[in-house]
Amino acid sequence: MHHFKRTLVTSALPYANGPVHLGHLAGVYLPADIFVRYKRLKGEDIIHIGGSDEHGVPITITAEKEGISPQDVVDRYHHKNCDAFSKCGISFDYYGRTTSAIHHETAQEFFLEIEGKGIFQQKNEKLFFDRYANRFLSDRYVTGTCPICNNSEANGDQCEECGTHLSPLELINPKSKLSDATPELRDTMHWYFPLGRFQEQLEAYVHTHKEDWRSNVVNYTNTWLKQGLNDRAITRDLSWGIKVPLESEEAVGKVLYVWFDAVLGYISFTKEWAAQRGESELWKSYWQDPHCRLVHFIGKDNVVFHTLMFPAILMAWNKGRATDLYNLADNVPASEFMNFEGRKFSKSRNYAVYLGEFLEKFPADTLRYSIAMNYPENKDTDFSWQDFQNRTNGELADTLGNFIKRSVDFTNSRFGGVVPIDCPLDVMSSFTVILTHDNDVEIDELGNRVNLVDLIDEIRDAYDGFHFREAVSKTMDIARKANRFLTQYEPWKLIKTDHEAAARVMSVSLNLCHSLSILFYPVIPETCNRIHAMLGFDGTIESLVMQVDNPEDSLWEQAKNPGLNMGHKLAGTSEILFTKIEDTDIAPELKKIEALLAEAEKREAVAVESRMEFKPVITFDDFLKVDLRVAQVIAAETVKKAGKLLKLQLQVGSVTKQVLAGIAKHYTPEEMVGKNVLLVANLAERSIRDEVSEGMILAVEGIDGKLFVVEPSGDEINGKQIQ
Ligand code: 2FM
Ligand code: ZN
Repeated sequence: MHHFKRTLVTSALPYANGPVHLGHLAGVYLPADIFVRYKRLKGEDIIHIGGSDEHGVPITITAEKEGISPQDVVDRYHHKNCDAFSKCGISFDYYGRTTSAIHHETAQEFFLEIEGKGIFQQKNEKLFFDRYANRFLSDRYVTGTCPICNNSEANGDQCEECGTHLSPLELINPKSKLSDATPELRDTMHWYFPLGRFQEQLEAYVHTHKEDWRSNVVNYTNTWLKQGLNDRAITRDLSWGIKVPLESEEAVGKVLYVWFDAVLGYISFTKEWAAQRGESELWKSYWQDPHCRLVHFIGKDNVVFHTLMFPAILMAWNKGRATDLYNLADNVPASEFMNFEGRKFSKSRNYAVYLGEFLEKFPADTLRYSIAMNYPENKDTDFSWQDFQNRTNGELADTLGNFIKRSVDFTNSRFGGVVPIDCPLDVMSSFTVILTHDNDVEIDELGNRVNLVDLIDEIRDAYDGFHFREAVSKTMDIARKANRFLTQYEPWKLIKTDHEAAARVMSVSLNLCHSLSILFYPVIPETCNRIHAMLGFDGTIESLVMQVDNPEDSLWEQAKNPGLNMGHKLAGTSEILFTKIEDTDIAPELKKIEALLAEAEKREAVAVESRMEFKPVITFDDFLKVDLRVAQVIAAETVKKAGKLLKLQLQVGSVTKQVLAGIAKHYTPEEMVGKNVLLVANLAERSIRDEVSEGMILAVEGIDGKLFVVEPSGDEINGKQIQ
């Protein structure tokens, strides 16, 4: 295991074209913040860099929709998101913007370095051009009919209906979103990054991490590597973005592709952070010192950009250099998705809970805790209002809050607000045995001695392995045990018969309060500061963390030996840490979801209604041109990189045909094999994802978007024409 002196954590830069929602928080920003706070508690040198992704088509599309400039869009959402993150306690050391001057310089410097080494290739390609808007159309500006599912509003990069990734050239009846006109193909030149030239180096890099990266990250990356890496265009014909820094004619009107620039934002923002501290070279200790560890927190949709594309850019920079070499990521903890009330968050359908809005109604720590407990580490999870209410009331309020308040209140009222007796470490570390000398209660309710130090080490291991749900739930386990401990020993009764025993119980409890205020800090920092204050400490946990320069004296170590000795004075007051969430508090939220779903249903109904306008009349002869036949599915498999497609082999009389059908969400390959289906047998061939489709099978949509393949009864003669 490599020994690292310091860590640089980055969080994916959200596009500044909309507010961040709880799905973003769960996958990226909260886990990153929890990790960073945990490391700070351990006294480690760590910084957290994030910022807004302010270029690219998502920004210009929003600007056009709202009739404002791209600059207005990014100004609005940058500040909005900054504000929401800070209210949520996401403690970035720096939150930058890719429109900054330093970032533009950095991205251009990278372009020139790689161009100077002759690594980029220039290629001519045919792209859609809108004559009326006088612009080349990037993928998202083209719409048309999906070749897979016939959705007439598919985007040039993807069909939202069936999920298939597309190229604009695959769309049937392509249209420009700018003018509605049919775009024409024109030649344009772009710079390409030849990812394939780094294939071996990337394979070796990924291989060294096959044990320590999450399996979803390794598998996804390897799927790409196995298919062989292709050249990727890293410039675009757009006016919004970072100009290609060349004087030549061919660079006019070209900007860097947003993904080329965004990942470099991590570097630019570290530079800005260093400059702000007045130590302008300090960023190099984080990027160019091999003893610094680089960790990218991202969602699963961003994996290859961080495991292949960004490393390749850095390899290209490093190539042939003796100095100023960049580190590659040591880990890329990518999350799966957190759904909301059983459905995917969707900005376009407005099915989301936005972070800023949430925090106007409920405290940040309750959200942070519930989301951490639903962290989508290796599978998609679900966040619901009910779960939020249960966790807040049952775990935060009744367990943690109750334990702290009872401990502090009882000490205040019966022991003058002072720790009544020393609490030796060995008693603390197995906190159930304290009464053995003069009390018949010997062991905890499980019959086990609970060793605090062991529990804390387990939490440490969970954090170090990026297992946030496990770490936080183990922390809550300690609170649960502590709460039971207090309930079991009943100091309020004990004090009448054995004052010293009650004093011991309280001393252990108060030390556990201190311990918990540290252990919970990564996930509910604001609450922990309040506990700290109730326990009579001056200054915030943040300020204490800053004062530690030796990891052995770190707050994390103090959690194992909290050291509240006899005579330590509490603040003398207490407060309720968590207000319970009533049914009436979440009722309006549940209503809102109902309304959203009802709206979606209505939209669907309207869509069906509009389809009742039949297509133009065709003649009987036209109809006879369609060769519809009965066919039997003899084999079926899923298609790599096109998760919604099944590849079917059909027996049609004496011939077999291959058909790609967008039904993978609705049928497993096994379910399809053996079925009789109706095939449009004389449709022109199409290529999708390097696979040929030689026809179409008939299917119809049911409620809730489910597709049903049209199945004749099964007794038909295979290959027969429909009459
Ligand atoms: O998917 C997104 O929202 C991108 N803006 C993420 C960029 S991450 C990094 F490259 F900056
Ligand atoms: Zn489709």
